Parts: sequence; C-alpha cells; structure tokens
Amino acid sequence: MTQSKLELADPVSGKKAELAVHPGTIGPSVVDISGLNKAFGAFTYDPGYGFTAACDSKITYIDGDAGVLLHRGYPIEQLAEKSSFMEVCYLLLNGELPGKAELDTFKTSITHHTMLNESLLRFFNGFHHNAHPMAMTSAVVASLSAFYHDSLNIHDPQQREVFAHRIIAKIPTIAAAAHKHSLGQPFIYPRNDLDYCSNLLHMFFSVPCEPYEVDPVAAKALDLLFILHADHEQNASTSTVRLAGSTGANPYAAISAGVSALWGPAHGGANEAVLNMLEQIGSVQNVPKYLDMAKDKSSHFRLMGFGHRVYKNFDPRAKIIRAMCYTVLEKLGSTNKPLFELALRLEEIALKDEYFVSRKLYPNVDFYSGLIYSALGIPRSMFTVMFAVARTVGWVSHWAEMISDPAMRIGRPRQLYTGSPRRDYVEIAQRSR
Ligand code: CMC
Repeated sequence: MTQSKLELADPVSGKKAELAVHPGTIGPSVVDISGLNKAFGAFTYDPGYGFTAACDSKITYIDGDAGVLLHRGYPIEQLAEKSSFMEVCYLLLNGELPGKAELDTFKTSITHHTMLNESLLRFFNGFHHNAHPMAMTSAVVASLSAFYHDSLNIHDPQQREVFAHRIIAKIPTIAAAAHKHSLGQPFIYPRNDLDYCSNLLHMFFSVPCEPYEVDPVAAKALDLLFILHADHEQNASTSTVRLAGSTGANPYAAISAGVSALWGPAHGGANEAVLNMLEQIGSVQNVPKYLDMAKDKSSHFRLMGFGHRVYKNFDPRAKIIRAMCYTVLEKLGSTNKPLFELALRLEEIALKDEYFVSRKLYPNVDFYSGLIYSALGIPRSMFTVMFAVARTVGWVSHWAEMISDPAMRIGRPRQLYTGSPRRDYVEIAQRSR
C-alpha cells in the first residue's frame, strides 16, 4: 500500500522523480527506487546492502536500535520461555501458532521424514575423516536435490510443504552423520520415539555397543538454542537462499547455498571463532591486549561474537543465552566455566570501552552459544552445523514466501562499473607484455 511520495530533483538537469514510499506494519518505510532510473538513468549504490530492502516479508521483524526480535509478531523472549522449537518451526512456516492437533500432525510428519536414503548416507565415506562438517553438510544437502528433483514442482503448495518437512527432518540426520564420520564411528539411525532435539543428541552420541540415555537438560538446552537461531530476517545466508531460489533452482540446492553462506566467521562461523578466541585470550589479564588488537585497523583480529549489522543495542538472543549459560553449565557440570567467566569479563570491559561504545558494538547471538554447545559435548567444528540445523526452518520459510509470491522476480543486482572503458582487442604479438 502506497501512502506517500518522495520527490527528488536533479539541480543540474532540472529532471524530477516521484518515488513511492511504502509503509511497513511496524518499523521504517521503504522508498521504491524503480522510478529513479527512469528519471535520472541512475541506480542506487549500497555495497553490503546495509540500506536496501530486497523484498517484503511477513516472517520476522527486527528493531536493531531497541534490540527487538519478533517472529510472526511474537517476541523472541516469549517464544524462548514458553514455546518449543517444533512449535516455532510451525509458526515460521505457517504464520500462526498451531492448535494441539496441528502441532501433533506436524511433529509426526517431521518424525517420519528423518531417515536418509542409504545411498546418500554412503556419500559421507567419500570425505576425508578431517573434512570440515560444514563442507560435508553443504555437499550432502545439495545432493538431496539429486534424490528429489524430477518429482518436485515448486509451484505446487503441497509439494513445497513436503520439501519443507523433509529438509527440516533430515538436516539433524545429516549433521549427526557428518559428526560420526569425523569420529570414524558408525552412523546412528533416527528414533521415532524421541523428540527433535533428543533424537539429534541420540544420533550424535549413541554407539551400538552400549545404551545411551538422552539427558533431558541437554535436550531442553538445545531446543532453546534452536528457537533462538531459527530465523533472523534477510541475513546473508537467508538472502543467499532467496537469491539462489529466485532462479527457480531446486530448493535443496538453494538451502545448500545458504549453508555455505552461513559458514563464514562474519556470520554463523562466529560461534566456533568465539571459543577459539576465548582460548587464545586465555585470561582476564590479556583482555586489554586483545581489545587493542580488535581496535587496530591494520590487524585482522576482531572481537568475535561482537557487533551486528542490524543490532545497535544488545542482541536479545545473546541476553537469553547468557542467562542460560549460568544454569546449563551448572547442571551439566561443564569444564567451560572458566571460559564463561572470561567471556563475562570480556563483555564487561568491552562495553565500557569508548571504541565499542561509540560504534554500538554489543555481544551477538554467537558470543555465548558456543559455550553451551560445548557443554553439551558438541565439538567446536560442529557449532556452525548446529546453527544450520536450527536456521533451516528460517531459510525454508523465506524460500516458500518468495516462491508463492506472484510478484516474484529473479534476484539480479546491478553495479557501479569501475573497469576499463571500451578498447580494441590487441593481437598477442603486438602486446607489450
Ligand atoms: N571487533 C572490532 N571492531 C568491530 C567489530 C568487532 N567485532 N565489529 C565491527 N567493528 C567495527 C568496524 O571495524 C567498524 O569500525 P570503523 O567504523 O572504525 O570502520 C565499525 O565497527 C562498524 O562495523 P562494520 O564492519 O561496518 O559493520 P558490519 O555491519 O559491516 O559488520 C559484523 C557486522 C557482524 C560482520 C561485524 O560486527 C563483525 O565482524 N563481528 C564479528 C563477527 C561476528 O560476531 N559475527 C556474528 C554476527 S551475529 C550472527 C550471525 O549473523 O550469524
């Protein structure tokens, strides 16, 4: 719905453009810049897309200045306290909280799609034992497209739903298989009597030679972490899924593109990098030295788990995870308590430092999440895979929203060309080099 217009005039040519301004339900309005090119022959320039809304979406809302995160309108704090990961999945996918029967049907469907085709399971044997689990996860998710391609019509809502349930169900099985392959242990099959997170822990930690009991404290902690990571509007990996999906590509391949984008340390790879950094810092005495390095523009060192493109305030998810650390590390008797103490002190010191204060750099979701994964016994190289498992529902929800939008177009950004002007081809014998 257009409520107002923005008028722009070029003082040199006197040309004018009238741009439509679209309001959101909450949050900033957006200016439709399509008229700009017609009037002035110019594009907008926004490297890193910091000020560009690439789509409209009904799924997630963030107010970065106030530190607010809503999924389908519900505050993350309420979902974290009262909901479950399966319920949040349903909410993100369908737009509304489920009734009891709807939730039961959804859970049953997810439970019955958890197995992998045996041929797909054998793919893991092609990887070296020390392959990074994110590499294996991305490759195996992409390989799902080979199993479900001809049969998948992305324009059929029912087939889209089957795809959504399949990938949400299978991603923990893939993650666990990547973990087991790294250890050289046999793959463990899913169990239908377990809930989503208990089943993931079972596939991770059970071995055929002895019984394994899932610790309900661990399953609950994982469920909460998954709620907190389920979606985060148009972040780099979600935008990657949208861009890849906008070509009409097989959706499993689009999700695999999202897994790859998530891997980088500026995005989902930060959880692994935070623990490495905390170990590198070692003790509170070393904090000033590392803060100086983080401030030094000639050094590549950044305070991992700090800063966010959108949040210029506390990331509400970081607050919840920090509170969770106290209880989970206590209950699970983790050896990570000294690292948690160090993280708390690092946060305290950084939040008083002028550099971090003036740039509004606060702890983000990844600052404390690795400490919990580690307390659950999940190895560091698997942290980002855990993030991918939780974020799959977000990727799928955005992909489905985009595909079902009749106004969908292929994603195709433009550029400011800064290369050579037109020139004529020079025969190799005549070239000076
Ligand atoms: N340590 C030191 N300086 C920083 C940091 C940091 N972690 N983050 C930002 N800055 C500085 C940056 O150098 C710049 O300074 P100046 O204005 O003097 O040039 C200023 O703060 C603004 O930063 P930016 O790089 O322009 O911000 P961005 O929006 O492009 O990047 C970010 C956001 C998350 C990539 C960045 O803050 C960062 O690299 N953080 C560390 C990695 C991290 O924790 N990533 C997880 C993000 S949350 C979960 C997820 O998305 O998956």
